[in-house]
Amino acid sequence: MIQYFDPKTDSIINPIHAQRDLGTPEKFSTTEITLDIDGVSITVPQGTSVLRAAAILNINIPKLCASDNLEPFGSCRLCMVSIEGMRGMPASCTTPVKAGMKVQTQTPALAKLRRNVMELYISDHPLDCLTCPANGDCELQDMAGGVGLREVRYGFSGENHLDASTDTSNPYFDFDASKCIVCSRCVRACEDVQGTFALTIEGRGFESKVVAGQNQSFIDSDCVSCGACVQACPTSTLMEKSIVEMGQPDHSVITTCAYCGVGCSFKADMQGEKVIRMVPDKNGQANQGHSCVKGRFAFGYANHKDRITSPMIRNSIDEPWQKVSWQQALDFTANKFRSIQEQHGRNSIGAITSSRCTNEETYLVQKLVRAVFNNNNVDTCARVCHSPTGYGLKATLNESSGTQTFQSVMAADVILVIGANPTDAHPVFASMLKRRLRQGAKLIVVDPRTIDLVNSPHTKAQHHLKLRPGTNVALINAIAHVIVDEALLDNDFITRRCNDLAFSKWFEHIKDARHAPENTWQITGVPAQEMRAAARLYAKANNGAIYYGLGVTEHSQGSSAVMGIANLAMATGNIGREGVGVNPLRGQNNVQGACDMGSFPHELPGYRHVSDTTTRHLFENAWQVELDHEPGLRIPNMFDSAINGHFKGLYCQGEDIAQSDPNTQHVQQALMAMECIVVQDLFLNETAKYAHVFLPGSSFMEKNGTFTNAERRISRVRKLMQPLAGKEDWQVTVALAKALGYEMNYAHPSEIMDEIAALTPTFNGVNYALLDKLGSIQWPCNEQAPEGTPVMHISDFVGKQGKFAITEYVATPEKVNKHFPLLLTTGRILSQYNVGAQTRRTDNQIWHEEDRLEIHPHDAEERGITPGDWVGIASRAGTTALRATISKRMQPGVVYTTFHHPLSGANVVTTNNSDWATNCPEYKVTAVQVTQVSEPAKWQAEYREFTARQHHFLNKASEPFNDIS
Ligand code: SF4
Ligand code: SF4
Ligand code: SF4
Ligand code: FES
Repeated sequence: MIQYFDPKTDSIINPIHAQRDLGTPEKFSTTEITLDIDGVSITVPQGTSVLRAAAILNINIPKLCASDNLEPFGSCRLCMVSIEGMRGMPASCTTPVKAGMKVQTQTPALAKLRRNVMELYISDHPLDCLTCPANGDCELQDMAGGVGLREVRYGFSGENHLDASTDTSNPYFDFDASKCIVCSRCVRACEDVQGTFALTIEGRGFESKVVAGQNQSFIDSDCVSCGACVQACPTSTLMEKSIVEMGQPDHSVITTCAYCGVGCSFKADMQGEKVIRMVPDKNGQANQGHSCVKGRFAFGYANHKDRITSPMIRNSIDEPWQKVSWQQALDFTANKFRSIQEQHGRNSIGAITSSRCTNEETYLVQKLVRAVFNNNNVDTCARVCHSPTGYGLKATLNESSGTQTFQSVMAADVILVIGANPTDAHPVFASMLKRRLRQGAKLIVVDPRTIDLVNSPHTKAQHHLKLRPGTNVALINAIAHVIVDEALLDNDFITRRCNDLAFSKWFEHIKDARHAPENTWQITGVPAQEMRAAARLYAKANNGAIYYGLGVTEHSQGSSAVMGIANLAMATGNIGREGVGVNPLRGQNNVQGACDMGSFPHELPGYRHVSDTTTRHLFENAWQVELDHEPGLRIPNMFDSAINGHFKGLYCQGEDIAQSDPNTQHVQQALMAMECIVVQDLFLNETAKYAHVFLPGSSFMEKNGTFTNAERRISRVRKLMQPLAGKEDWQVTVALAKALGYEMNYAHPSEIMDEIAALTPTFNGVNYALLDKLGSIQWPCNEQAPEGTPVMHISDFVGKQGKFAITEYVATPEKVNKHFPLLLTTGRILSQYNVGAQTRRTDNQIWHEEDRLEIHPHDAEERGITPGDWVGIASRAGTTALRATISKRMQPGVVYTTFHHPLSGANVVTTNNSDWATNCPEYKVTAVQVTQVSEPAKWQAEYREFTARQHHFLNKASEPFNDIS
């Protein structure tokens, strides 16, 4: 079993014990209080509860309604103590420590009272402990044992709740009301931790009970299935269905979620090699014990029947697959790639790394391309999401990454969220953000759509700047103009930290009246006064933090918008401390890592240009090959080159370009033009339907490695079970390199990380032992920062000055006209993830079975569209059809959809327009017409036919191998 390192005790401990509950939340204060508990002296920060102080001393006072991730409530009275000079027996969970306090936790009187309390609870609780799913993991059972309960004098015949019904409506957990002790931990978890407020205690006294929503079933309520209440419940009232079905775990392993860029840490509860539950890790530095429905529950895809576990090959996509041995598949690939290079030149092949794979795996794929393919034709999905972040932040702040920890938001006074929808795409961070808003921070949302954050329970945005899609730069410039115009600049910061010349040029540029809100509102659609008020709010904040997402980057001016955001932060001095900063919310789990590891065609690991001779020599010496100094092809260039007959072979690891990249028909054309496409994945994804070699991938549960989240936090991924296909993904790349005649000698991914660290200054100090010791590390981690760097740019911008950038607004070439009068923008939904290959193979499907087109009532009425109608969506690139949802979240003239289902063809309509600097596609702005239709689009009919044929080829996959090379 993998062990867990406790930095506090400097010892290896079982992860289950690392999750010990200290009763009430940690308090932070510079004032320390010394008190005496059971004759032992202890000093704790002011505000700490007596219960927590005792727990720190390993004195376990019985408790039921308290938990260290919730503010105390004081309802169960089990935690009573005796305090010298204080009347009665106060609840230790709600009693703060005082200097000189003398506390007794164990006296005969306390023991008697606690037994009485337990007796009352147990008299209304089923006595089915031996058959209860929580048997062995039940706080009520533990407390009954702990207080020495031996009899229940009140009997069980009185009025009780023993026949209350069980709500099984949620696919992942049950609510068995007969076992509820009404401690309200679930209610407080939903409020304090998750921020959804889906639960309440209804009624009083004996009648009081927990209800979801308006006394609805969980599935019909506002519940978002984050699991916080299940985790909080001290009984088996709220219980994972998997535990009900399979029983308690026998061991646990700490690992990292493989879904979004929050990078939550989880305790995988296991029975042998079977995962039976994922519980958010209390010590997880990104998530601090919280989770969302994807990481918490949607892990069943890893063992889905659709997993392909045998390598397969074929000569043409019009042939059935043939199952072969690993060696045969690798030799087949090597022969194809070498013969393509001999015939078409060394630049005729390349690879795409995966932002879902580990750092070590991604590093090896780019190494394969540079050292074995002998070119730089390597790119990654960041091309289509956050490549403008890499470019824009490097150009201004000198480092291609976010500046803060997620936790930093708890020190922000004003939070500006631009083009991001955290409650759906980064839910655990959204919960933290909402907690800060409930504490009084102010929120500005910049989004064409009314996202949930604009108006959540107990939080409301001060300003929602509902701009037109494609006008981010005009809006950001208008905010900057107000800051300059109204003398809201932080001149001291600018003088100390920023390049004078760049600032002067920017100042002259931005103060021009053409950027004034009064002169740009017709472009953005945002009233000038609203824009000015929002600008003032951000600029005047003590701590102003900016969070942004793909709504900023996926534009023809994505890089300009990122630089504009960095300008705002520098102009107001909101960089280099807690509570401020520029924070890109990364989409996939390891998109930051994939970029760090040198997945771009122009950059070696650590964002160093391939033309830099010193860096190249470093890698040449380590890899013992000569490296190409010319940047290679980006993904869109690979497609164009394939269509032009030059690019012929692609190794695509864990990325579904046929679904995720824009202008699907163009992508399909490119894929069909290639001679050898190698797909390494869990499933026959959309790209694999065009492949000639299928190499089975390993899920995050089947491998060791690391992921790097949006905070630059490197966290361990630990192997929970053997890979279903026999190899971890990094081993496949090593074997492919060998088949191509190049030896990569690693016995374990830790050795790959050692090589990365040796060759990459920002990773110099990273190694697995340190990761195990610290839990996670935020790069840079090196001699200057041996335990990593939570906040960037504290004293300088990576040894340099911050550089203001000129960001002139240039309208997107994508224009509405009478043929295409609406603007389509795209986004994600909570229950599904990216192309949906994983979440569509889980019960999350019930929340989002299909992508829909959201349309404003006016636009719908004009077109005679009613809810649920099939509508055709036509753009200059293509046509598809979806069912309509009519929603006032949209503004008139703008429609919206998600892209989680391949049949939707959302990317059939998106165009080839892209960011001027990085080629990141302009997914967020497509001019379309929407009309009622009665049948699917032609593309969809063709897609169904093609897919059926490819599934037929998969089902016919034959053994044994016949030599078809
Ligand atoms: S469901 Fe669980 S957490 Fe909620 S009140 Fe009942 S026993 Fe407490
Ligand atoms: S699962 Fe999450 S959202 Fe749903 S009721 Fe529980 S805490 Fe609230
Ligand atoms: S917030 Fe992201 S990383 Fe955390 S559990 Fe959800 S999907 Fe996983
Ligand atoms: S744990 Fe203190 S009153 Fe319940």
